Amino acid sequence: MDALEALTTRHGVLRFKPKPVEPDKIKAMLEAAIAAPSPANLQPWAFVVVTEPSLTRHIAHYLIHVQKHQVFRALLDMPDDFTVKLMRLYESFDQTPCFVLVCLDPKVDFAQPQHQAALHDWYLVCRGAAMENLMTAATALGLGTRWFGGLALDGGGQPLKDLLGIPPEVEIVSITPVGYHDEPPKERPAQELLDVAGFKRGDSLALTRLLRGKLPLEQVLHRNRW
Ligand SMILES: Cc1cc2nc3c(=O)[nH]c(=O)nc-3n(C[C@H](O)[C@H](O)[C@H](O)COP(=O)(O)O)c2cc1C
Repeated sequence: MDALEALTTRHGVLRFKPKPVEPDKIKAMLEAAIAAPSPANLQPWAFVVVTEPSLTRHIAHYLIHVQKHQVFRALLDMPDDFTVKLMRLYESFDQTPCFVLVCLDPKVDFAQPQHQAALHDWYLVCRGAAMENLMTAATALGLGTRWFGGLALDGGGQPLKDLLGIPPEVEIVSITPVGYHDEPPKERPAQELLDVAGFKRGDSLALTRLLRGKLPLEQVLHRNRW
């Protein structure tokens, strides 16, 4: 699979076969992640790869908890019956064979006070680039992933920091499960701008439409001038 195909076919996966992920594939994903650009090449990231079953189960249960209470209920204000329906997607999530945590580890603090905010934004952006590289590489290797950032709504995932011995000064930014798919390929019908611009918290029908596809390029592209 070439890079373009991996980029355009990647989609969020929640159901995995329990089959372990080969160490050389994990290494290849991480090599792709650290190839991402970063401000002044400071590479303010660190990764935690978790494959030990007692730990992966813990992580899965924590993410399920955050998804239900912080993402579906608190953030999206989803009605209870819809939350129950969506939580069925997580029924086998605790069989996920591998999780990768992408963390902020600044390593050096050199910014002038007036540049701290800009640098923090840049760090955030480049960790996103590392995460996307990792997920794209996983797709190219036949593996599924899904970006979880919901732990930011739960105080930054302290239970995971405690579980994995992550130092206090290191921030967990995002997590992805990694494994072989156990779900059919997702259909991606073109969305309408209304699906995105018209979205309101608590509207489960609107959310269902929102989660289906992507906006056509022409709706987000401006040529030469806005
Ligand atoms: C910053 C960020 C945070 C996200 N956090 C979550 C999350 O907490 N839970 C979740 O299920 N998906 C999360 N997602 C995944 C998005 O919901 C998903 O990418 C989006 O619905 C588009 O679907 P796709 O990944 O299949 O293209 C997050 C994505 C991003 C970029």
